[in-house]
Amino acid sequence: MENYNELLKKAKEMTEKAYAPYSNIHVGCALLSKKGKIYLGVNVENSSYGLTICAERNAIGAAVSAGDRDIIAAAVVSKEIEPIMPCGACRQVLSEFNPEMLIISMDKNGNTVMNSLLDLFPAGFSLHHGD
Ligand code: THU
Repeated sequence: MENYNELLKKAKEMTEKAYAPYSNIHVGCALLSKKGKIYLGVNVENSSYGLTICAERNAIGAAVSAGDRDIIAAAVVSKEIEPIMPCGACRQVLSEFNPEMLIISMDKNGNTVMNSLLDLFPAGFSLHHGD
């Protein structure tokens, strides 16, 4: 993928499907795999608030369920006025599948920030011991 416009577009479209009646923060995530496939997720909230699952973790579920674990980039899009960053739990879960993946966050006005997951989540817990 030459640039990440398509990934961002898909993540933005997904914000319409977010289930966020409690926070009203609608998040879409699109993951890009090494073989060029895209996997999507939205945040799914619950009346028992702590059971909420973020868009990133639902997208990881879609990728792994499709048998594709080689994630190279994650686009995270919301309707907020600043780009939102993956929460700590999602950083750990994303890191499981590639601690060096690119994270691209975009706000409602199209402002984007790009980070390596390694910068956002250095020295995460891992049982892979560097393999
Ligand atoms: N949320 C995400 O889906 N991804 C993030 O990166 C940050 C937070 C969701 C969880 C919850 O539904 C809402 O945003 C407010 O925390």
